[in-house]
Amino acid sequence: MAGIQQVSLSSCEKPMPVIGMGTSSYPPADLETAKTAILEAIKSGYRHFDTAFAYGSEKPLGEAIAEALRLGLIKSRDELFITTKLWCSFAQRDQIVPSCKMSLENLKLDYVDLYLIHWPVRLSEMIQKTPVVKEIIHPLDVKGVWEGMEECKDLGLTKAIGVSNFSCKKLEEVLSVAKIPPAINQVEMNPVWQQKQLREFCKTKGIHITAYSPLGANNTKWGDNRIIESEVLADIAKAREKTTAQVALRWAYEQGVSLVTKSYNKERMKENLQIFDWSLTGEELDKIANLPQRKGVTLASILGPHDLVLQLDAERGRASAILLSRFGVRTITCHASPHA
Ligand SMILES: NC(=O)c1ccc[n+]([C@@H]2O[C@H](COP(=O)([O-])OP(=O)(O)OC[C@H]3O[C@@H](n4cnc5c(N)ncnc54)[C@H](OP(=O)(O)O)[C@@H]3O)[C@@H](O)[C@H]2O)c1
Repeated sequence: MAGIQQVSLSSCEKPMPVIGMGTSSYPPADLETAKTAILEAIKSGYRHFDTAFAYGSEKPLGEAIAEALRLGLIKSRDELFITTKLWCSFAQRDQIVPSCKMSLENLKLDYVDLYLIHWPVRLSEMIQKTPVVKEIIHPLDVKGVWEGMEECKDLGLTKAIGVSNFSCKKLEEVLSVAKIPPAINQVEMNPVWQQKQLREFCKTKGIHITAYSPLGANNTKWGDNRIIESEVLADIAKAREKTTAQVALRWAYEQGVSLVTKSYNKERMKENLQIFDWSLTGEELDKIANLPQRKGVTLASILGPHDLVLQLDAERGRASAILLSRFGVRTITCHASPHA
């Protein structure tokens, strides 16, 4: 198996492996299952792990890292690249540093490599279930929250800071106040939601994109089987003696982004790493470029179809604008990237 490539990020001395193991599972995995799967992933060669306060996977990831050190699978924690995310219920200036420290406590780490704002919205309460009532949903104080993120980096709690699910419009808001620009925007991206305009925008701003749900999050509550059951991808896979999943992951990699994909299955996690020693032909790339596009993950499907949530989804993609008009809400325009 060819080695995992790495990518340099702005304002971060440590390179990031281009493929990471996701830890958001559906149905949610218990601590022991998640820990065992993460250890297996370390044995298979994964060195980049993506977690979030909201996934409940920080603790099993922390335990798996401690166990990997005990077993000698890794010599030092520095060999790993760990990403976690600020949950919306802590998205205000005075709660960012305490929230990052809480995640570090869950992870039993002194620092994370990347800390991301999970969604561009604030919730004024801690939530146990979704959808939520509209009264607790508020616009993000971009300036205050980004200052808090910068403080986390200045304090050494994280090596790099970034955002997730941000449209070009929201990125511009961050860039207008940032002393340290976001290193990463982690967004849904795959052959059926290609994010071409957002990618172009981020490239001009030096913001690296990480693709989440690169397999379309099949068999989860937030995803579907459009990728795994795509005939176009299956035909390419058959001709190349690869799997449909490998074709989708290789496509994302060839677009110059990094990716986080989740498998807690030993064979599939190995399969997903075998994308570095072959490439797609121009003709195959053309076929994928022409696949019909539709966004999978919407904030409205998580928090409910409230006006602010629908506005944010609309900023992030045309498909959501259709959803928005269905609920009778006027759309706002993002000139640089209507697809972001
Ligand atoms: N920032 C955000 O808002 C956000 C949102 C969503 C996800 N994420 C992150 O991105 C990670 C990955 O995204 P995701 O989990 O949504 O979706 P994904 O990686 O596209 O798909 C995961 C699903 O595909 C299955 N799978 C994995 N490898 C496969 C293969 N080779 N063949 C067939 N099925 C395969 C997995 O099942 P098995 O485990 O059974 O293999 C799981 O059901 C998440 O875990 C999370 O860390 C971030």
